[in-house]
Amino acid sequence: MNMKNNTVLVTGGGTGIGLEIAKYFYENGNEVIICGRRLEVLEDAQKVMPNLHILTCDLSNANARKAFSAKLLSNFPNLNVLINNAGIQRFRNLRENLLTENGWADYQDEIQTNLEAPIHLSNLLLPALHKKKNAAIINVTSALAFVPYTAVPVYSATKAAIHSFTLSLRHQLKDTDIAVLEIIPPAVNTDLGGKGLHTYGVDVTEFTTSVLNRLANGEEEVGYGGSEEIRLFGKTQLSEGFKKMNG
Ligand SMILES: NC(=O)c1ccc[n+]([C@@H]2O[C@H](COP(=O)([O-])OP(=O)(O)OC[C@H]3O[C@@H](n4cnc5c(N)ncnc54)[C@H](OP(=O)(O)O)[C@@H]3O)[C@@H](O)[C@H]2O)c1
Repeated sequence: MNMKNNTVLVTGGGTGIGLEIAKYFYENGNEVIICGRRLEVLEDAQKVMPNLHILTCDLSNANARKAFSAKLLSNFPNLNVLINNAGIQRFRNLRENLLTENGWADYQDEIQTNLEAPIHLSNLLLPALHKKKNAAIINVTSALAFVPYTAVPVYSATKAAIHSFTLSLRHQLKDTDIAVLEIIPPAVNTDLGGKGLHTYGVDVTEFTTSVLNRLANGEEEVGYGGSEEIRLFGKTQLSEGFKKMNG
């Protein structure tokens, strides 16, 4: 992928991995737009990168996604790179469902944000990307797409689904100018799921620099550390990985 002279949208670009991705593209001579729900977080990013563009959005809602995409394309008609990075992660005890069926809205929020939003944004933006040179869609999935962590069961399922969708999209678009790429993070030290839950993870800057440099060198699917191993696992290793991950 060509990492210069693009117009790039990074969803969830105000914090964590998205912020590092935004910085990488910003420092490499690209026009960068970030979006998220919290304006103050986006404004903080803009203080560090004065030419950064910010847009608020709630990607968990289909109508909001439509309105957001229309505004995005109207303000940034040169958009040629979509980075589906925004995501949420919730711990869930599925055994509670043995007693009650409450909580579907909360499940849906996770499915809509992690799964519906990237598919819908691809759908909304593909016609515009198709008219551009060096277009790309980059999906941020997870090592848990390959080996689920059962404590975050819906999250793991959404990431497996987005990995699958990425393979299909890449295959179907192979004769177009749109590259379909995947970043597969291991545990990374960000605030995902809440402050302090991922402090054991790898450094976010080192991780992001490594995976984006590999995309720049032409790779289509990249992990880092543990997730680089997991994405290449065979069946036996997947079973062993599941046991290790889930005790
Ligand atoms: N950190 C890890 O260990 C790890 C591992 C594997 C995969 N990942 C993936 O990496 C991606 C980035 O996560 P992160 O670790 O950088 O965590 P993070 O700092 O919590 O970033 C998530 C971002 O998504 C945005 N977001 C959440 N819901 C949204 C919504 N409905 N609409 C718009 N934006 C929304 C958040 O901003 P607002 O709250 O302001 O909306 C936030 O900026 C996620 O897809 C995550 O699943 C992370």
